Amino acid sequence: MAPSILAADPARLGEAASAVSDADWLHVDVMDGHFVPNLTFGPNVVEALRRAGAPPLDVHLMITEPERSVEQYVRAGARRIAVHVEATPHIHRLLQSLGQLGVERAVALNPGTPLEAVEWVMEECEAILVMTVNPGWGGQKLIPATLRKVAQLRALLEERGLDRRIVVDGGIDLQTVAQAVRAGADTLVAGSAVFGAPDPAEALAQLRAAAEAALDGEAKPKFNQT
Ligand code: DX5
Ligand code: ZN
Repeated sequence: MAPSILAADPARLGEAASAVSDADWLHVDVMDGHFVPNLTFGPNVVEALRRAGAPPLDVHLMITEPERSVEQYVRAGARRIAVHVEATPHIHRLLQSLGQLGVERAVALNPGTPLEAVEWVMEECEAILVMTVNPGWGGQKLIPATLRKVAQLRALLEERGLDRRIVVDGGIDLQTVAQAVRAGADTLVAGSAVFGAPDPAEALAQLRAAAEAALDGEAKPKFNQT
């Protein structure tokens, strides 16, 4: 689970990070007002969250020309950086240089971008982030077709014998979490479903339990067959 701080009160980011201190990741959505119309956080906020003892920072760059600023985010303390395949003509080179910087790499895909766009860079990343809404805002409804993309990606990774994380981002809540897990996602970003709830820690625990229950549901039929 990776709660997205985008949905937290911007005047209380430190408190929000503490409320989900047991999360596997804290997802930070960086938007530049250009790749997406919205404008959010920069490296200074990433650094402040790190200093505040936030969970490992999962920085999602929704910015054009990400090659110009990735180093700043690594220095600021990002543990994983997601770059959009649509944001640069040189995604392979960018992922290679991120690897040299020693940070975990995710390559991100917009809902309208075909899976083929990442086919030749899967060796150069540790995770693939499938956008399940159009990037730019929190609180949108999951686009069902994107889960078919997740399932195809899971099959492709298996076919290639590659062990990569599949991150889903957007519209993940108690209603959609099981579908995402069954499609093959293993890392779930959730903004409004966590920070829009009266008790974010409790909301996070409920989402995690629902994800685990969906995984158990997956395992059972296989077990019964043997
Ligand atoms: C959307 C962001 C998401 C966003 C998800 O552009 O990439 O990470 O925070 O928010 P919810 O969970 O509210 O859809
Ligand atoms: Zn995001």
